[in-house]
Amino acid sequence: MYGGHRSGPNKKTTKVDPNEDKAYSLEKEWTVMTDLKEIFEARRSVNFFQARKELAPGVLEQIIDLASLAPSAFNLQPWELIAVKSEEAKKRLYPLAFNQPKILEAPVILIVIGDRKGYEPGNPEWNELETMLGGDKEALAGTQQFARALYGATPEREIKFAESNAALLAASILYAAQYYGVDSHAMSGMDFEGVKKEFAIDGGKEVVMLIALGYFDDAKTLYPRRHRKGYREMVREV
Ligand SMILES: Cc1cc2nc3c(=O)[nH]c(=O)nc-3n(C[C@H](O)[C@H](O)[C@H](O)COP(=O)(O)O)c2cc1C
Repeated sequence: MYGGHRSGPNKKTTKVDPNEDKAYSLEKEWTVMTDLKEIFEARRSVNFFQARKELAPGVLEQIIDLASLAPSAFNLQPWELIAVKSEEAKKRLYPLAFNQPKILEAPVILIVIGDRKGYEPGNPEWNELETMLGGDKEALAGTQQFARALYGATPEREIKFAESNAALLAASILYAAQYYGVDSHAMSGMDFEGVKKEFAIDGGKEVVMLIALGYFDDAKTLYPRRHRKGYREMVREV
């Protein structure tokens, strides 16, 4: 039986009102996990979602806003998300994701998109840097030139820029979801070009992965957590 976090009985979870004052007041109390170590230990790729169990109102916005604290190069945030929520859109995504049942079962599938051109001066996030630089346009232009040399030198570098940044957002979403008691599943089993075309994603952008969000179907069993390489297997000290 799946032994990780479930929002009800887990004794380390705490009921809080994460959003006292504003917009998402429809459902004010969510069970959240407050122990970061437990959040890491509880996150699993949940293959079985309770079909038709919607996310608590407002929780998707909370997850994304929390995950938006992820770091990015020059804070350029070269990422976008499409939240696939409607039955109609899920049915379009399903065959492109090799008929993985969670596409239809999970209430929300995020398409994580990285912008290969996000380092270019057209990215409005540069405006904030200009302000921070006291409006020094020359200093801004120098920084933008440096960014172009780093990230735009070759098509491969552009992809690296788009994917490394968007992957940090994606990881942040997985853990932010866990914080709010929402289960997740990252997927790259898909026809990337097909998804791009079907959801009218700009040619300069990369589909990086899908993330299903929802609630684990407790009637099912997850395979035990698989082997992880530890420090000694992954670290080369020099
Ligand atoms: C980028 C990425 C792509 C993945 N693609 C798929 C997928 O298409 N289908 C699937 O069933 N699992 C997919 N997985 C889930 C992995 O198999 C899973 O994370 C891994 O086995 C470890 O299990 P855990 O996440 O439960 O700890 C993907 C995970 C990541 C991070």
